[in-house]
Amino acid sequence: MTKALIFILSTLIGFHCFAQNKPLSPILPSPVVYKKEDGKLYLPQELSIQSEQFSTQAIKQFKLLLSSFHSLNLKDSSGEPMIRLRELKNVRPDSYSISINEDILISYASPASLYYAMHSLMQLIQSEDGAKYIDKAFIQDYPKFEWRGLHLDVSRHFFTVDEVKRYLDLMAIYKFNKFHWHLTDDQGWRIEIKAFPKLTAVGAWRDSTLVGHFTTSPRSYKKERVGGFYTQEEIKEVVSYAKNRHITVIPEIEMPGHSRAALAAYPEYSCTGIPKGVPGLWGVFDDIYCSKEESFIFLKHVLDEVVDLFPGEYIHIGGDEAPKTRWNQCEKCKEVINANKLKDAHELQSFFITRIEKYLATKNKRIIGWDEILEGGLSPNATVMSWRGFQGGIEASKKEHYVIMSPGSHCYFDHYQGKTKNEPLAIGGYTTLEKVYQFNPIPEELNSEQANYILGGQANLWTEYITNIEQLEYMAYPRAIALSQALWCTDKPDFTTFYNVLNSTHLKLLDGLKVNYSKTSQQANVILKSEENGLQIELDSKDQGEEFKVLIQYQNEFKNETRHLKSKQPLIIERAKKQTQLLKLSFTSKKTGLKSNLILTKHKALGIPVNYISHPNQQYNHAPTILTDGQRGSHPWRGHEWIGFDTSTIVLELEFPKKIKVKKVDLSFLKSNGSWIYLPNEIEIENCSKKRKNIFKCQEINTEIIQIKIGQRSNKLRIRIETNKAIPIGLPGNGHKPWTFIDEIVIH
Ligand code: ACM
Ligand code: ZN
Repeated sequence: MTKALIFILSTLIGFHCFAQNKPLSPILPSPVVYKKEDGKLYLPQELSIQSEQFSTQAIKQFKLLLSSFHSLNLKDSSGEPMIRLRELKNVRPDSYSISINEDILISYASPASLYYAMHSLMQLIQSEDGAKYIDKAFIQDYPKFEWRGLHLDVSRHFFTVDEVKRYLDLMAIYKFNKFHWHLTDDQGWRIEIKAFPKLTAVGAWRDSTLVGHFTTSPRSYKKERVGGFYTQEEIKEVVSYAKNRHITVIPEIEMPGHSRAALAAYPEYSCTGIPKGVPGLWGVFDDIYCSKEESFIFLKHVLDEVVDLFPGEYIHIGGDEAPKTRWNQCEKCKEVINANKLKDAHELQSFFITRIEKYLATKNKRIIGWDEILEGGLSPNATVMSWRGFQGGIEASKKEHYVIMSPGSHCYFDHYQGKTKNEPLAIGGYTTLEKVYQFNPIPEELNSEQANYILGGQANLWTEYITNIEQLEYMAYPRAIALSQALWCTDKPDFTTFYNVLNSTHLKLLDGLKVNYSKTSQQANVILKSEENGLQIELDSKDQGEEFKVLIQYQNEFKNETRHLKSKQPLIIERAKKQTQLLKLSFTSKKTGLKSNLILTKHKALGIPVNYISHPNQQYNHAPTILTDGQRGSHPWRGHEWIGFDTSTIVLELEFPKKIKVKKVDLSFLKSNGSWIYLPNEIEIENCSKKRKNIFKCQEINTEIIQIKIGQRSNKLRIRIETNKAIPIGLPGNGHKPWTFIDEIVIH
């Protein structure tokens, strides 16, 4: 792939990227240059243009945008038109500029950059007493990354062609150019393959779907036949719709794992041959494509039809989460390992992917795979999509492979975006608007040559818990706009600047389009901090003048307390002197009426800072007081509420300002074996106030809340937790070190 040409024009003009005191650009993603000038250009109802300068497609898109965003028309002009065009030569093909003065001059380098210019223009048009105008300005722009992607999983929940088109329309506004269409997975095969009609006749339908979260026990199912698929004509329609918006569609055909729907239709391509049906449960399944010759022939036929439908250079072949359980037991797979002198099943996966890569190369296609394709050896020309953090991407770029960064920490939009219980059920995690905004696809440790292999980034929308288009929009927006900044801006403005533009302009735009975006980012952040006598609660609002009414209800006391707090004004909850007590706090914004709740256990260690002798994993280490902030981590698991460890021994200390009576200690753990999170093996608590070793143990741990009796006075407790060494055979993640998640150490 050739790196984009240097944008000569930018250096000629000598503009300054986001210097201080610059006027705010209303355009998002923010352009490289926005220079506001005095005056306004008023627009007539019909904008004149010399249409022979445009392609028919460009004119069609321009008309569509003007009428749908602003109810304006475009008319052909033979004289001096309102909108003039100039094609640029020898500049980056994705660059454009717009000059708004007595008329509008758009300079563009390619059909795509002309389209970007049109969207920027749409965002500049304002209304005043029914009149349309644009502030006079000069805009110059080009993207930082060439891969600006959004993904959509249509397997876990199916989305119609019209819904996919709406998704593409919103992507186009924010200049995304790659649509990763996750068309196959365990729970549904969604693309018609004429050679294998059962893939959709059988594989596109399931008879039940899990209700509630994966970790809920016991599980229950909605017994209803659901599913759907796209005919090849519909696929072509979507690909063409995307192309008209300068978006390339990358289909994902998952292999060798996440293939239960295909194997429900054709069990002969599994290792066991046993039909198992299309599952209504989420997770990772042992049954994957067998690596025998027949499976390759099947996949080649499938891919033959896929490549004909998608003109882009890439096919995503999945490659993630493929347990080797069946391969290790299968005689045919063992034969492939032996015949090809492979070391083990991991090398077999690499062999499998490389065969597919070579086959697709004969069709002039390149492959992308999730970062597991690094295990057992990366196939020669594969591009890696790094999802388990940045590490896979770092490793691949050092091996001179192209990379798309899509780490769970910043780019998984199926994660929660807020802390309150008002959020719709999600898979877990905690990825705020600001966290997305801070995403930088290029890790610091890469040198500039290695960084050249990072094509860009992408957010993923897995839909286990996203059941309809409204919820999809809630999870995607406004986070996708923050991502567009991270991927487009050469020098992105600070978060507050972005937030102001988002709020003042873009949320209205989304309102106009009836997008069900999340308002979570508009709510004050509840910040809990250690304080000398207990816990300090602070509401941090982006609007610093915001005021809140706080209602505090005390358990077992028939009194409520009302307080009034300003943003950042502290509210202190003192730690318990005697009994543990439950408090319910609710905060209502006097300005917006938005309300959030907090349930708090007032106990003897409330607000005591925990001394971490063993360090938590960076990814799950959210706030220093989290273990003593009065709140137990909730179920299903939500990322920000738990501290996660991946060490064999965990040692923590709690030191009190003076000796207190410790009757018993509660420790809460999370058990979510499907997510590799296990209960520990053994807990010891040492009362360090005693001269002689005074240790209290718990060795049989089979519940999430463990209570250990102490019955002594103490000013320092040391807690030592021994965890499991490895996940047992036969369970997801077997052989790996399990996670230990802890929240709230309650002292009674
Ligand atoms: C993934 O999220 N399993 C790629
Ligand atoms: Zn096999």
